[in-house]
Parts: sequence; C-alpha cells; structure tokens
Amino acid sequence: DPCGNFHCKRGRICEVDKENRPVCICQDPMTCPPSTKEFEHVCGTDNKTYDTSCQLFATKCSFEGTKKGHHLHLDYRGACKYIAPCTDYELRQFPLRMRDWLKNVLMQLYSRDSESPGFLTEKQKNIQVKKIFENEKRLKAGDHPIDLLVRDFEKNYHMYVYPVHWQFSQLDLHPTDRFLSHSELAPLRAPLVPMEHCTSPFFNECDANKDKLVSLIEWGHCFGIKAAEDINENLLL
Ligand SMILES: *[C@@H]1O[C@H](CO)[C@@H](O)[C@H](O)[C@H]1NC(C)=O
Repeated sequence: DPCGNFHCKRGRICEVDKENRPVCICQDPMTCPPSTKEFEHVCGTDNKTYDTSCQLFATKCSFEGTKKGHHLHLDYRGACKYIAPCTDYELRQFPLRMRDWLKNVLMQLYSRDSESPGFLTEKQKNIQVKKIFENEKRLKAGDHPIDLLVRDFEKNYHMYVYPVHWQFSQLDLHPTDRFLSHSELAPLRAPLVPMEHCTSPFFNECDANKDKLVSLIEWGHCFGIKAAEDINENLLL
C-alpha cells in the first residue's frame, strides 16, 4: 500500500493516483469522525465552532488558495465563546504572569526529571535550569501580586531569561527556523485563550512587525527581555 507510511498534513488524507503513487488530497469534512466529548470542539479564528479539529483542518484545506483558507486557524480548544476585551492595563500585566509561569513550569520539569529523567536534556538541566532551581531567592510558585512580580523581575532578571528561550524552542519545531507561526504557537495559545482573555491580544502584539511570525527577538521583547545580548540563539538547545 503506497499510502501505508505516507504522511499528509492535517486536513488531508492520502490517496493512490493512477500511477500508483501516494498523493495528499483534502479530506472531506463529512468523513471526520464525530466528536465524542465536548472538549473535542474547537473554535476557529473565524469564531465558528467546529465539531473537531479534523473538521476545522479539512475545512481549511477545502478553502486552500483563498484568503479564507489562509486566515483560518485553530484559535482555541472548546466551543467559541464570548471573550472579554483585554484592557491595556491587563495586557501589560499578562507577560509578567506568563513569564513567572514559564519559570515555574521549568522548575516543575526539573524536579520531576530527578525522579524520571527525560523531560529535559542534560545540557538544559546542568547549565541553565539547575542554576535557577538552586537559587534561594527564587520566587516559589503561587499567585503573586503584580507588584511583587515586577520587583522580582527587576531583582532576578537573569532567572527569567532562560525560561523565555526554553518556551520558544519548545514551540519552534515545524520548522525549526527561529520563527513561530500561528500553528507553532497553537500548543501554547489554544488551551490558554479560553482561560486568559489577554492571550490573543498578547500574541498579536508580540508580532511587532505584523508579518504573522514571531521572531526570537520579538518573543524576547514581549516578555521584557530587551537587551540584545540577552536574546541568544545559543540558548535554544
Ligand atoms: C464569537 O462567538 C461567540 C459564541 O457564539 C459569541 O458569544 C462571541 O461574541 C463571538 N465573538 C466575536 C468576537 O464575534
């Protein structure tokens, strides 16, 4: 079977052409398996609820070559809902909380890794993460007031530099080109949008030059890592 190990992008399926070669064609949304749980619904950037992500990507494929196809992405998990506007004040706070959260995620991986290795590479562990983990001044995970997060960022700025790079490298995979596309950002964005109403405005602002891609420098800037010497490609694994 020529389609046996042939991989097609999301929204496409493999078919064998007349010369018995595998080709990817758009999947008919009708052939997507129906959702069995409510959380399989997804909200598209057209603010339409799709039964499953299969439905969304099959629909996107059917509009390929058109503006609509180009602009349709998975916005977030779950049915579309009303998302309150994000005020400028909230938008300024958002990166502070997210930066703290990134650091905590890394710390959690580090402590989990000591029980069952594999979450982090040796290089990550030994050089970058260990330093943060062992720093006694580290703010422990918790729901901290914004002014404390602000002060901690000023005092312990260097603790935040690596986590911001780490998250970038976790997302920059398809392809690994130092730019994050909408679909590369999706694993971080999609679960966050329904819970944090500033997520979309934040990521839109991150793309400072509005080319639909977030570069490492833009990423660093939107997390407050501003100095050129602190944004370092060598920190990306
Ligand atoms: C998106 O759809 C939801 C649910 O139908 C609705 O409540 C919300 O107002 C819509 N948002 C926008 C920006 O149109």
